[in-house]
Amino acid sequence: MGTAIKFRNAIALASGKGGVGKTNISVNLAIALRKLNKRVTLFDADMALANAHIVMGVQPTMTLVDVLDHEKSLMDVSTIGPLGVRLISGGSGLVELMNVPSEQRSRLIHSFAELEATCDYIIVDTAAGIEDNVLEFVRACNRIMIIVVGEPAAFIDAYACIKILHQNYGIYTFDVIVNRSRDDTHGIDVFKRFKGIVERFLDANLYHVASIPEDNQLHVSVARCNPITIMNPDAPSARAIITLAASLVKTDDSQTNQIAPYSSHKSETSEPDKSGDRLI
Ligand SMILES: Nc1ncnc2c1ncn2[C@@H]1O[C@H](COP(=O)(O)OP(=O)(O)OP(=O)(O)O)[C@@H](O)[C@H]1O
Ligand SMILES: [Mg+2]
Repeated sequence: MGTAIKFRNAIALASGKGGVGKTNISVNLAIALRKLNKRVTLFDADMALANAHIVMGVQPTMTLVDVLDHEKSLMDVSTIGPLGVRLISGGSGLVELMNVPSEQRSRLIHSFAELEATCDYIIVDTAAGIEDNVLEFVRACNRIMIIVVGEPAAFIDAYACIKILHQNYGIYTFDVIVNRSRDDTHGIDVFKRFKGIVERFLDANLYHVASIPEDNQLHVSVARCNPITIMNPDAPSARAIITLAASLVKTDDSQTNQIAPYSSHKSETSEPDKSGDRLI
């Protein structure tokens, strides 16, 4: 995939560690943004185990593989999910993306450009791990959300993810979502501990954008293939995600007319804020 694809208005969710909630947060953030009348595409960039469609309760008939093999556009292979969220499913063949011939690659890039014109947000749900083929998708996005839970293994893997994005790709700014928090105080505490570790070793800026509580109803929604923001928008996890979506929209709408829109890449002109308490 190289460096050619750059998404604007794109939010990547990454964690390093598996199973910390990337897919559920991606799907529900997409739905929450859709509820705010935004046009949203969810791109399931998990190459080995694409499963956003299962969480959404839809069955795509085509995947990104068909864009490469059968000259389809991204719009052609997309599936319309709950509330009109557009889903592009990776499919297992995506591992071959790194080696596609230039003609196919240029068609893919073209197709992404077309897609961007059709939506306000692209949410990119990534696979676990810190290999290039995962981080290629992450670094192509202008906003990166790192999901952590309050466990040492999650800290280590999320740190490794940030370190590569920072050192290899020059990304300075990361939003952090604490998932499975006991309460708001615990969420902020987890964030502060994680931020302390990262900023001890790296010149990166971390911002706490949400704490999503541990929520039994999320398990139920997964079992029913019915996203929590639809099944029960008042559930604690759904409320946290809906609040996050509202904050994003508020910030992005207010920036619409500014010259320099949000980007996680270092700005030549502005000094980074090291406080970490920016909401979005
Ligand atoms: N806030 C939460 N409360 C309760 N359970 C949760 C919460 N977040 C995630 N889970 C549980 O964790 C499981 C894994 O979540 P999910 O599939 O979204 O993780 P992931 O990071 O996408 O995993 P992978 O790395 O395998 O892609 C969910 O099926 C759910 O059971
Ligand atoms: Mg996942």
